[in-house]
Amino acid sequence: MMSKKWNEIAEKIIAKERAVAERNRGGIPYTTEQPHRLGDWSDPDRISWWTNGFWGGMMWQLFSATGEAVFRESAVDVEEKLDAVLMDYNGMDHDAGFRFLPTAVAHWRIDGNEASKNRGLLAAANLAGRFNPNGSFIRAWNDFNDGRDTRGWAIIDCMMNLPLLYWASDLLKDDRFKGIAVRHADTARERFIRADGSVRHIVGFDPATGEYLRDYGGQGMGEGSSWTRGQSWALYGFALSHLHTGRAADLETARKVADRFIERIPDDGLIPVDFDQEKECPWRDDTAAAIASCGLLTLAKLTEEARYRDAAERLLAALDEKEADYDPEHDELLTRGTAAYHDKNHDFPIIYGDYYYIEAIWKLTEKELFLW
Ligand code: GLY
Repeated sequence: MMSKKWNEIAEKIIAKERAVAERNRGGIPYTTEQPHRLGDWSDPDRISWWTNGFWGGMMWQLFSATGEAVFRESAVDVEEKLDAVLMDYNGMDHDAGFRFLPTAVAHWRIDGNEASKNRGLLAAANLAGRFNPNGSFIRAWNDFNDGRDTRGWAIIDCMMNLPLLYWASDLLKDDRFKGIAVRHADTARERFIRADGSVRHIVGFDPATGEYLRDYGGQGMGEGSSWTRGQSWALYGFALSHLHTGRAADLETARKVADRFIERIPDDGLIPVDFDQEKECPWRDDTAAAIASCGLLTLAKLTEEARYRDAAERLLAALDEKEADYDPEHDELLTRGTAAYHDKNHDFPIIYGDYYYIEAIWKLTEKELFLW
C-alpha cells in the first residue's frame, strides 16, 4: 500500500482518538462494556489487570504525534493510578513490562521525569526478582491460578516484558537485569519454540530443580496447538531482544517464528484465535494481527528483507478494510479480539489490539515513540 494510504489512516485514527480520549478521561479502559463505549478498569478490584498500561501507551503515542494536552493528561493519570499496583506485592507479576513500559518509562523517555524513572526501576527490580535460577525462567503469575500451582510456570508473553530489564540495565549501567533477560530468552527459545517455528503458550518447570515438566495449551485451543497471540508475542519479543542485545540467536528465532506465522496467514489476511482451529470456526483475533505487524515491521528493519514488511502491510490492510472502526462516536478501533480460545466471549474489542494497531501504523508513518 502507498505511504499516502498509511498517512490517511493515521489521520483518521488521530481524529477519532481525540474524541475517545475526551470521553474516557480518568478511566483505564480494557474493553467495551456497552455498545461502542469502553469501560473503566481503574477500580481497586481491577487496577492490577495486566492490560492497564495500554491505554497510557496509546495516549503517549498520540501525544507524541500531536502534542495535544488531552493525550498527555490521560497518560499521566494512568501512570499515577498504577502506583497502587507497584505497592501491592500480589498485584505485581511478570507483566510489569506491559504495565510500566507504556506508562512510566514512556513518560521518562518523553521528558526525563524523575518520578517516572523511579517507577520504572522499581517495576524492573520486581520483575528481576521473579527470576528462578533453577530452570532459568521468569515466573509468570503468583501463587495459584485457577486452583493450580503456578510457581514453576513461565509463559511466552513474557518475551514482551524483557525490554523493561534491558531498559534498566542500560540506564543503570548494570548488566544484572539484562543477564536475567537473556537467560529467560534462552529458556524460551529452547522450551517454547517448536521445530516448525510454532510456539507453546505455558511451560511448567519444577521450581526447586528447574526440571522441565510439561507444557499447557493456555489461552489457545490446547496442548500442541498454535495460539496466534502467543505466536505474535514470540515474534515481536525475540525481535526486540535482538534489537537490545544484538544476539544472533534472538534474530534467528524471531525469523523462524515469523516465517511460520506468514505461512499460516489465511487468504483473507485476518488472523484466527488459533492457527489450528477448525476452518469453519469464525473467531478472529485482531490483536494477534496487530502485534504480529509490529514484530514483522521491526524484523523488516533489522533484516532489510521486504517480505517482512509486505506481510505486515497485508495484515494491516486487512485490519483497515475489514476490522477497524474509525467512527469518532465509537470508542473501539479494532472490533474483533479474543482473550482466550475457551472463553465464552469472542470477537470483541480489546485495548491492546488498538494499542498495537496504532503502534504499527505509527511505524509505517514515522510517528512512533519507541516504548519497548
Ligand atoms: N498476556 C496475556 C494475553 O496475551 O492474553
